[in-house]
Amino acid sequence: MLAMSSKTNTSRISFTSQKPAFMLKSFRNHIGVAHRLPQILFTEEKIMLRTHNCGQLRLDHNDQTITLSGWVNRRRDHGGLIFVDLRDRWGLTQVVFDPDINAEMHELAGTLRNEFVIQVEGRVRPRPEGQANPNLDSGEIELEGHSLAILNKAKTPPFDINKELPVDEKLRLQYRYLDLRRERMQRNITLRHNIIHHIRNFLGDEEFVEIETPILFKTTPEGARDYLVPSRVHPGHFYALPQSPQQLKQLIMVAGYDRYFQIARCFRDEDQRGDRQPEFTQLDLEMSFIQQEDIMDLIERLMISIVEEHASQQLMQKPFPRLSYKEALDRFGRDNPDIRFGLELSDVSDIIANTSFKVFSGVIAKGGLVKGFKAPGLGKYSRKQIDELTDFVKEFGAKGLAWMKLVADGDGVKVGGSSFAKFLSEEEVAAIIARLDGQAGDLLMFVADKPDVTNESLARLRLELGDRLGLRDDNVLAFCWIIDFPFVMWNEDEERWEPSHHLFTAPTEEDIPLLDTDPGRARGQQYDLVLNGYEIAGGSIRIHQRDLQERVFKLIGLEEEEANHRFGHILRAFEYGTPPHGGIAPGIDRLLMLLAGEPNIREVIAFPKSQNANDLMAGAPTDVSAEQLRDLHIKLAVKPSK
Ligand code: AMO
Ligand code: AMP
Repeated sequence: MLAMSSKTNTSRISFTSQKPAFMLKSFRNHIGVAHRLPQILFTEEKIMLRTHNCGQLRLDHNDQTITLSGWVNRRRDHGGLIFVDLRDRWGLTQVVFDPDINAEMHELAGTLRNEFVIQVEGRVRPRPEGQANPNLDSGEIELEGHSLAILNKAKTPPFDINKELPVDEKLRLQYRYLDLRRERMQRNITLRHNIIHHIRNFLGDEEFVEIETPILFKTTPEGARDYLVPSRVHPGHFYALPQSPQQLKQLIMVAGYDRYFQIARCFRDEDQRGDRQPEFTQLDLEMSFIQQEDIMDLIERLMISIVEEHASQQLMQKPFPRLSYKEALDRFGRDNPDIRFGLELSDVSDIIANTSFKVFSGVIAKGGLVKGFKAPGLGKYSRKQIDELTDFVKEFGAKGLAWMKLVADGDGVKVGGSSFAKFLSEEEVAAIIARLDGQAGDLLMFVADKPDVTNESLARLRLELGDRLGLRDDNVLAFCWIIDFPFVMWNEDEERWEPSHHLFTAPTEEDIPLLDTDPGRARGQQYDLVLNGYEIAGGSIRIHQRDLQERVFKLIGLEEEEANHRFGHILRAFEYGTPPHGGIAPGIDRLLMLLAGEPNIREVIAFPKSQNANDLMAGAPTDVSAEQLRDLHIKLAVKPSK
């Protein structure tokens, strides 16, 4: 979790240094009855609603008369005294209402409820001996209330704002403005601001220019469905919201604005997950006359500076390790590996290619893979526990989980139980144990299937066991680069090649001839940045020549006419002196989620959509009036559900 470290210490934030002399006098003239006459109080004269914030007061302010405004975080009545913790986004200050100081004020204080908005004038004083609160920045002082005004009342909120209790997320999203008042959310949203501010400063120092690009544009595919906006003035025509500013940033390079960036909103209609939102934010950037290394170097420096200035976790390793796509798949089963821990996968296909155990050899004969890994200490797992792991991998398409427990045998190990060892020869069993470096107490687990299924199901199981064994250290940030991606991948359903990054990525120079002969073997000049098992950035060097771009369109099955219709503008631009260029786009929400130690990106977005892509607060999407539809020349084929 992100601590309120000295870097983000609220106490240093001050928005007023001096209070005008006239203020307190006139304020006092009114304040006794201010709760009844707030409109007079605030319109008649230029009166400040506060002189300080609620996180700011210290012993240095002792004896000063000040004014605070904020929300009632909590009220406690103790004998004659009423204590109120007053809250704003800078912190909490304890206010004491004493009937001996102002009886009317004290009576009014008795009516305060949580979340009322109030204004208090009073004197700062040290808390009595032994009453200081070391957990509060302002914990050594309190405000002795002299007068009180209720600026606004509040209904009882649907959940506690002053406590970190589990609340149904639907309710939180429905009342997001209240949810955002909570300390945890204020910390996340402030962190988001700080990091975006940091990015702007960092890139400004590197001579980047920030350029905004349109939201109403033409399809910019990144592999998801587009959100479309119907045009009223052009019947039957639609804008597409950008899935990213990809084409526009390339056109910005054509226009000569080398080193562009944007904090860009992207829109993708795809299945929602914890790390996906229909609209999300990228740090989108592009540079000219550079190579892959230049971009990786820039982003690595940016990430390190963000972590060093804003994160409470430790960087696992710098420079960031680099893995080829193949190595990532071989060792971790996926191209977004969590490298904070081991439990790496081993391929045993060669050992058992000819075994009589058909579950294994049959899969290999069909071009499949048999891989496995060992979980130290889990040799103690019961059959039931192993059955649960089997069900777990089945969720990801595996047909079963073959397992083997190892026990000590003199200085070595032997099989202490297995679902499949009896079907293998002694040599095969020994070779498998050696390949996985099996030790006494280990549980060895294997999946045999098509490469995708073997890799993905074991990758998931690895993460699951990493969690169970406490190996995924929350205090560590493990970045790694994935490089040497295949340029295109075969889409079995559609029986065509598709770009593994996007349409505009350049193939590796020496692999260009392979585009005609063996496209599956060509590598792309692309790179992903991964953090703790999440892809947090993707980028590439781009194609900058029309003929190569057209060859790639053809390779992925985009007919010339269609290519011209959709991307003619970019092909045309390539004919007017396009510099070699490339870029990358870190996903701000995912990065924030990991830095804030949150389990999903909704926690770092002020107004996110639900898992169902709804805005539960405003109730979007909604039906629209018949008139609006008519204006847009749209006839609905369904009746919208209420
Ligand atoms: P890509 O599609 O890889 O690349 O996206 C870049 C990064 O954006 C984040 N991201 C998302 N975050 C939240 N919700 C989503 N639905 C979502 N989709 C993606 C991820 C991802 O790594 N134009 C290229 C970049 C380039 O080539 O320069 C692009 O958008 O963190
Ligand atoms: P069976 O001969 O079907 O009883 O399988 C023996 C063992 O192999 C059981 O533990 C099964 O769960 C496991 N198994 C079956 N199919 C696969 C597979 N595709 N990959 C890994 N293990 C499997």
